Amino acid sequence: MTDTFTMDSPQPRLLDQTGQGVVGTPMNRPDGPHKVSGRASYTADTVMDNVLHGVLVRATIARGKITGIDRDSIRSIQGVIDVITDQRMIRNPAQGMAGEAPVQPGDAVYYHGQPIALVVAETFEGARDAAQRLNIRYETEKAYVTPEGTPDREVADPETAGDFDAAWKAAEVRVDQKYTTPSHAAAAMEPHAAIADWKDGSVTLRSSLQMIRFNKKELADTLGIEPAQVRILAPFVGGGFGSKLGLGPEAAAAAIASQKLGRPVRVVMTRQTVFDCVLRRSETAQRVRIGATQDGRITAISHDDTVSNLDGEGFSEPVSQASQFLYGADGLSFTQTVARIAATPAGSVRAPGEAVGMLGFESAMDELADSLGIDPVELRLRNLPDTHPMDGREFSVRGLADCLREGAEQFGWAQRGTAGTRREGDWLIGMGMASAARSSMLVKSAARVRLTGDRAVVETDMTDIGTGTYAILAQIAAEMLGLSPDNVEVRLGNSDLPGASGSGGSFGANSAGSATFLAARKIRARLAEQLGCSEDDLTLQGGRARGGNREMALTDLARDEMQAEATIESGMTAKSHFSSGFGAHFAEVAVNEWTGEVRVRRMLGVMSMGRILNEKTARSQALGGMIWGIGAALTEDMQSDRRDGHVVTRDLANYHVPSHADVPGDMQVLFLEERDDWANPIQTKGIGELGISGAGAAVLNAIAHATGKRIYDFPALPDRVI
Ligand code: MOS
Repeated sequence: MTDTFTMDSPQPRLLDQTGQGVVGTPMNRPDGPHKVSGRASYTADTVMDNVLHGVLVRATIARGKITGIDRDSIRSIQGVIDVITDQRMIRNPAQGMAGEAPVQPGDAVYYHGQPIALVVAETFEGARDAAQRLNIRYETEKAYVTPEGTPDREVADPETAGDFDAAWKAAEVRVDQKYTTPSHAAAAMEPHAAIADWKDGSVTLRSSLQMIRFNKKELADTLGIEPAQVRILAPFVGGGFGSKLGLGPEAAAAAIASQKLGRPVRVVMTRQTVFDCVLRRSETAQRVRIGATQDGRITAISHDDTVSNLDGEGFSEPVSQASQFLYGADGLSFTQTVARIAATPAGSVRAPGEAVGMLGFESAMDELADSLGIDPVELRLRNLPDTHPMDGREFSVRGLADCLREGAEQFGWAQRGTAGTRREGDWLIGMGMASAARSSMLVKSAARVRLTGDRAVVETDMTDIGTGTYAILAQIAAEMLGLSPDNVEVRLGNSDLPGASGSGGSFGANSAGSATFLAARKIRARLAEQLGCSEDDLTLQGGRARGGNREMALTDLARDEMQAEATIESGMTAKSHFSSGFGAHFAEVAVNEWTGEVRVRRMLGVMSMGRILNEKTARSQALGGMIWGIGAALTEDMQSDRRDGHVVTRDLANYHVPSHADVPGDMQVLFLEERDDWANPIQTKGIGELGISGAGAAVLNAIAHATGKRIYDFPALPDRVI
């Protein structure tokens, strides 16, 4: 019943021919009123009879063994039902896609804050009290909690093209700099939560998760049961940013406890627990080398990095991802080192790779422009490669040059002037820019569309993590079927529905959107058949179908429900072409010369990211990303105690994500819309993460321009700025 579609050729632009004009419009989210009125029910809002409360007990040493759990220490606390220590719940959440996360043995401690037990009680207060008082005995072992000094390092084989060493030696002008970025937290607004309910040999899990199809398999693997015994519900997710890609310890613990105790169990993390044991973005140490000729042709590019993770974790922050294809050179080389440390597992946090890699790389580009005496926009324009520098693939469509030119024009870049020369009282003023890039992905995704009369339903286990999935899938189906989007109901976040990509890596709209499109196209074909015309000849508009010389209302033509399901296959787009979103970020900052305080005064992001499905949600994504860029440049700094690795900045007061006061009122997003026929059947490219990629570097380059002094350790905190 489900057709599978694989990308192997440029795709026709059917969405431009349907004539509805629904796709692209800044439609409000259908879920918006539910959210602002409190009717959207997030995991922890679920009210359930007979529910037990679980609180995770977490290790207070960095490395070692648990030698005893003193259950007597909590005997006096009322309502405690059980202390569950089960090695299956110690699974790391980091990159658990499809059950590949390592399960840590139950008596071993790998980092401070690691979940080691679940206390279950009749009340949340009782469980919390008991979890705090439970006396655990440990045998401690030596731990390395930061990458510096740890002897356990894995150096990957360099990824290369051409001969970097020769090109570097021959370069007339060289920049060779080191940068550091700290760990980052995803800091999603909704803390991680799970409620599990076992009945008749299967489990229903309500949890805040990004990728239900994968999470279902992870939970089955964790529990040693069949995926068919697992049902997951996540209709609303209050942000994820990577931290909810994989099944978390709260979900595994809730499921194990519910199975054992025969009652529903709810585990809701506090903000502090989220910081401690839900994945972090690795800190990075980067070395960037860029060599060029005197007249500004880049000849050598190298971007080496050291990141960290727990031993055995497969994920490593792909720091040099964008450095590998933004600019061309005669020789390129990229080497990654992974330091194995005793710290919160490292995983994907929004725009893994680019978000921090471009801080270093685009700062080095700015420094090279200075050294050459060439405008930074001009330097980038002169060095756009003809094909992907690493593998020779053609770019499907690359809007980078247009973004750079248009951004410079719109931002008033020509007025920038010489570094360190503009001031207003105590404030030094500067402008900076950086390129943006984030490669576009497609992940296997299925969707079902049902049409009855002039009403349609879209069903998929896709999630909406605050990004606008409910809106865009309704728009795609409405566009294809000639309906008002008000007549399209979108059902998401339920593992009983066709399995989608989930939300991650900016592939959600590409993937779930394509599946919805393909399913709707099948319905169109059936409508054409019933009307007796060819598909090309079919026009669906305003609830009416026209074709050949016939016209019918959908209420007559589709009186009985029509159903179609379709699947789009994974792949980095077609193999012959490389698809990426591109953009250019511009920032103006004021730096207080006495305090080092940095105020971002205005910002512009110009982005070409394929077809825009919804101008409003797309803009919000881009703005959100740029605000993350401000955070990475100025404030976000996850710090751990150097003795035992415990997270010190474990709330939103100490880990400062930009608030309204940190964000300029003048924050503009400009889309240079394009069609990427090689990306997928709806010609979109990922949006969510392009906004952050490069945005922070624009702010940092603006600081350098304001003060005439460069910073190499980020974020640019006041003491580093003055
Ligand atoms: Mo994203 S960091 O893949 O949610």
